[in-house]
Amino acid sequence: VAPQDGAACAWLSGASAARQRPHASHKGSYGDVAVLGGAPGMAGAALLAGSASLHGGAGRVFVALLDGGSLGVDPGRPELMLRAPDALDLRAMTVVCGCGGGKAVRAVLPRVLSLAARAVLDADALNAIAADPQLQMLLQARTRRGLPTVLTPHPLEAARLLGLSTAQVQADRLAAARRLAGQHGGVVVLKGSGTVIAAPGRLPSINPTGNARLATAGTGDVLAGLLGARLASGLPAFEAACEAVHDHGLAADRWPVGQALTATHLAQKIS
Ligand code: APR
Ligand code: MG
Repeated sequence: VAPQDGAACAWLSGASAARQRPHASHKGSYGDVAVLGGAPGMAGAALLAGSASLHGGAGRVFVALLDGGSLGVDPGRPELMLRAPDALDLRAMTVVCGCGGGKAVRAVLPRVLSLAARAVLDADALNAIAADPQLQMLLQARTRRGLPTVLTPHPLEAARLLGLSTAQVQADRLAAARRLAGQHGGVVVLKGSGTVIAAPGRLPSINPTGNARLATAGTGDVLAGLLGARLASGLPAFEAACEAVHDHGLAADRWPVGQALTATHLAQKIS
């Protein structure tokens, strides 16, 4: 965070206070997260995001699988409430959309983009938006309305959104993240070694934490879920993104030497 960035510095000095929960609070004080994702064969991606939201401190976490409702409950994580996508009131929720979403995510995106109080758009939600000008218009309308929105592409997803090659994105990651933020509005988290957080009119941030042990399937889903919890707690989108990316990387940096990092254990370590 640059010293001249007053808003971010004010947030940093208040951050530790925000971590202390007032005694007179309840689960409603920490927000509802809804994860929409998990096409057939990819349910794990949505469940990982939901688990990370729980470990990130969200008050309540709902998961709507896009595989036709195969699962009534996740016995390993009974705190997660599994619901049909259209049974959720997205206007009251922070929505994490796209983790393992496959093609099925296209059908829920118009509702998510129009209604969600706050949104994290990841993985197949980004692929669907890249392929569909109508969804791009809905996303731009959403960010113009000032609804907090964070896009979390890895380099290939960013390349699709920008109409570039992955090599072009990687050749100037700062420029790619800024261009994407300018194109759609909202906050962009361009993932990978040296994750960039960018937003229109703000100095971008390059995250210093994290390492190549994060290069294992599902760690991006964990980041999306953690970010959902940070947004649901009331942090502004840019600060929520910086904090989630930082803590996600820090958990990997503190990982015991000689122990394999898995996404499931990363989600647990975050708390
Ligand atoms: N250094 C630092 N961080 C890294 C490194 C590295 N060398 N490699 C990976 N990471 C971090 C990234 O910054 C990011 O936070 O690990 C995370 C990987 O996220 P993704 O690339 O999104 O990977 P993954 O979780 O497997 O994505 C799975 O995407 O393909 C879709 O639908 C699928 O939802 C599923 C999801
Ligand atoms: Mg991913």
